[in-house]
Amino acid sequence: MTIGLRRLGQSDIQLSPIGLGCWQFSQGNGIGGKFWQTLPEDQIAAIVAASLAGGINWFDTAEIYGWGKSETALVHSLRAAGRRPGEVVIATKWYPVFRTAASIVATFPQRQAALEGWPIDLHQVHMPWGCSTRQGEMKAMARLLSEKQVRAVGVSNFSASQLRQAHRALQREGFTLVSNQVRYNLAQRYPDFDDTIQTAKELGISIIAFSPLAQGLLTGKFHEHPELVRFRVGLRKFMPLFSRRGLARTWPLIQELTRLGQAYQASPAQVALNWLLSYHGDMVVAIPGATTTAHAAQNVGSMAFQLTAAECRQLADLGR
Ligand SMILES: NC(=O)c1ccc[n+]([C@@H]2O[C@H](COP(=O)([O-])OP(=O)(O)OC[C@H]3O[C@@H](n4cnc5c(N)ncnc54)[C@H](OP(=O)(O)O)[C@@H]3O)[C@@H](O)[C@H]2O)c1
Repeated sequence: MTIGLRRLGQSDIQLSPIGLGCWQFSQGNGIGGKFWQTLPEDQIAAIVAASLAGGINWFDTAEIYGWGKSETALVHSLRAAGRRPGEVVIATKWYPVFRTAASIVATFPQRQAALEGWPIDLHQVHMPWGCSTRQGEMKAMARLLSEKQVRAVGVSNFSASQLRQAHRALQREGFTLVSNQVRYNLAQRYPDFDDTIQTAKELGISIIAFSPLAQGLLTGKFHEHPELVRFRVGLRKFMPLFSRRGLARTWPLIQELTRLGQAYQASPAQVALNWLLSYHGDMVVAIPGATTTAHAAQNVGSMAFQLTAAECRQLADLGR
């Protein structure tokens, strides 16, 4: 059984339940660009090709992922895989920090240039930390919508109340907000407890789960080989989840992911991703990142089965 396409919010965009997160394509540039190892272009192309082969039809990138490097590497890879503009869904994000809403429209040509003219389906406000009001940001996004420069508008890292404000503001301009991209995975279930998911449900907004594998933690590889943490570039080695205590606390969850996976011939990572796609029904889609083709191939495999409601509840209880 394969989980079918999902509608993005109230839009006409149909997404594979798993998309590919493209932060990993920052190539060492920009804020956060050094969080991941620098991937050569041919490896990026192979990751994108493996994702497409596994049934992914969309990609999540952003302005700050290398200040355009990720966007450009993505379209080069899509072209190398034989795809043409409009054949896949592309989501990108405007970076709001120290900027006013005016820069949404002013920087849009830069996004188009970085994407070498490939259409932007979903444009998102990356975080709720801009210098303008929610109303101002949504007015600027509404302009892009009315000029048909983008098909849909979403937000990211918005709390329940910020989501309501953005939704109302865009509605006043005659459009509907389609998504909120938030950190959401079995080890970090905050959106379940702070009303973010409940609010999105109520408003008909999709949740795009970022860091769906808790940045690799839910694969179980760091539990099996704790020394891996030290050898990875970037900040993961300093994060509480990756400390000895963090690994010990999440070990029962990894054991349960492994046990449940046996029935589906699935890895812990695949079960963790499938949980995201199953627990709240079709309102959640997830965007695991990948640094190898094997990761990409494995992650798309999470769409090939479906956990039962009882299994989802059991994992949710452990994740709590
Ligand atoms: N909106 C936001 O503020 C925001 C914030 C963060 C991320 N995002 C988006 O969400 C995407 C995904 O989040 P993320 O990259 O933070 O975390 P993630 O998807 O949970 O973890 C990705 C990392 O886990 C490891 N991995 C992935 N699949 C694996 C597998 N099957 N087996 C073993 N290891 C595997 C790889 O790292 P190693 O090989 O190095 O271990 C990979 O780079 C990003 O690419 C980005 O598009 C958005």
